[in-house]
Amino acid sequence: MAIKPVLRMGDPLLLQQALPVVHFDTAELHGLIQDMQETMAAMDGAGIAAPQIGVSLRVVIFGGGKNPRYPDAESVPYTVLVNPTLNPLGDVMEDGWEGCLSVPGLRGVVPRHVRLHYTGQDQFGKSIDRMVSGFHARVVQHECDHLDGILYPMRIRDLRQFGFSDVVLPGQASPE
Ligand code: NI
Repeated sequence: MAIKPVLRMGDPLLLQQALPVVHFDTAELHGLIQDMQETMAAMDGAGIAAPQIGVSLRVVIFGGGKNPRYPDAESVPYTVLVNPTLNPLGDVMEDGWEGCLSVPGLRGVVPRHVRLHYTGQDQFGKSIDRMVSGFHARVVQHECDHLDGILYPMRIRDLRQFGFSDVVLPGQASPE
């Protein structure tokens, strides 16, 4: 297992619809998740989706306690989420700064649903069913967008709130 190169915006694989996982608890799936974990940790990511390391499957991982690059964000439990479904709860949206390992060095303000119900399975096929809000809900929406070929810049409403991290958020070590 290894730290993998992260595909960057412009790579057509990041624009694909990823395929559902059919077989759980396999060596292939465990290997993929380990690669994602090591890659996310090496880059201090808040989360990562399988297509970002070139595997077009519906697998995301995120969380794992406080992220030094998101100092003000509440901690999100480490989660492996396979074949997710997302259902926003209510219509309330909230703007927040985001970055992405596939869009290095940049940050943008993205509207996301504040409250979210999500379901899916872990790598063993065990069901996950959660109601979340705030940063946790934002991270899930960002990561799951990757499975549908959506990168956060596509969701920015005001491109004046998009720029290089050290310019738009000076002095802040914000996360990818
Ligand atoms: Ni991303």
